[in-house]
Amino acid sequence: MSHTAVDVIRAKRDGLRLTDGQVDWVVDAYTRGEVADEQMSALAMAIFLNGMDAAETARWTRAMIASGDVLDLRVDRPTVDKHSTGGVGDKITLPLAPLVAACGAAVPQLSGRGLGHTGGTLDKLESIPGWRAQLSLDEITAQLGSVGAVVCAATTGLAPADRKLYALRDVTGTVEAIPLIASSIMSKKIAEGADALVLDVKVGSGAFMKTEERARALARALVDIGVDHGRKVTALLTDMSVPLGAAVGNAIEVAESVDVLRGGGPEDVVELTVALAREMLALAGIDVDPARVLASGEAYETWARMIRAQGGDPEAELPVAKHTRVLEAAEDGVLTGLDAYAVGVAAWRLGAGRARKEDPVQAGAGVRCLVKPGAAVSAGQPIAELYTDTPEAFDAAFETLRGGVELNGEVTERSALVIDTIRG
Ligand code: URA
Repeated sequence: MSHTAVDVIRAKRDGLRLTDGQVDWVVDAYTRGEVADEQMSALAMAIFLNGMDAAETARWTRAMIASGDVLDLRVDRPTVDKHSTGGVGDKITLPLAPLVAACGAAVPQLSGRGLGHTGGTLDKLESIPGWRAQLSLDEITAQLGSVGAVVCAATTGLAPADRKLYALRDVTGTVEAIPLIASSIMSKKIAEGADALVLDVKVGSGAFMKTEERARALARALVDIGVDHGRKVTALLTDMSVPLGAAVGNAIEVAESVDVLRGGGPEDVVELTVALAREMLALAGIDVDPARVLASGEAYETWARMIRAQGGDPEAELPVAKHTRVLEAAEDGVLTGLDAYAVGVAAWRLGAGRARKEDPVQAGAGVRCLVKPGAAVSAGQPIAELYTDTPEAFDAAFETLRGGVELNGEVTERSALVIDTIRG
């Protein structure tokens, strides 16, 4: 049956379910340029307003996967991947990938760069002297076999329909549609070819999903798509109302991850790393205790091999920002709030993140949170350290950070770091 863009738009505008044929045609025709941007904008808005059910969303995902390459990253051990919806101080991929590899799985982590207030895994790793993000498919497969873990840039041939549609959604107020977010994330992850996937769906001020209700809906949609594609999938719903760990930036997040891999580091980073590792290993069918492997130093050894395999020196000094300033407590009392979004924006303003895709990032910039909510502080006590190479950025960063620090407010019970687990 032949289709037209106007018929598909009208169907969704009027609240109808799109047929498999309509979905396949519109995604393919848009990728080829036959459906114009303004038509896809109208359709994306109709989807934003009227939604797509689980079967439509699964079909949409299938069509986006079919627009590009599908990788086969199978090696001689089970492959298992992890995706986070992004948060402030979320450096978990760094300790997690070598930890799960040290436990016996193969972990391909095709990652991206940061945009806005959440950092990108590649930006963090690029602060390690010599480390290379761009690998060929042969290099990825060889490293997966020899080291067990690869964190590198996603190849450009994966889900090109998503790249085009995501850029359009960004400028048409349609990013927040759950079926479009879920199909965007899963089309790339399924095209990467892992057997199993653990999703870290973050909820709170520093996350993409600000409410638990929306985060749950996204987690369910992601898991349903995975199941529809025959993948083993689990989603953890995790708190992102305060930053993860103390470090928010690039080099400082690498250093904190290395602390975790050496058996130290902040409790929340260790807790989430181990919780995600347990889920990944369960899906991979590997009965090994990740907490024991982390404590044994084996995960650090795998990290060092992973960094060396990509040209980096795991023992090299990490870059340090040229300027440091300290935010002090204005009065005695209890720190009752440290808003993740404010800390993320402050780090971004200091140069750790970028406003446009082509902007550079500063390796040493960022914020170190010295106190977490619930702690007693005295007037003048340092609460956070701010780092940058561009000191003119301090004023705006201080203003943002002060807006996110609450002293002596209402004491609210903090939610657990892992709020819930949603299984496929
Ligand atoms: N991340 C993605 O990859 N896609 C979205 O639509 C939103 C976040």
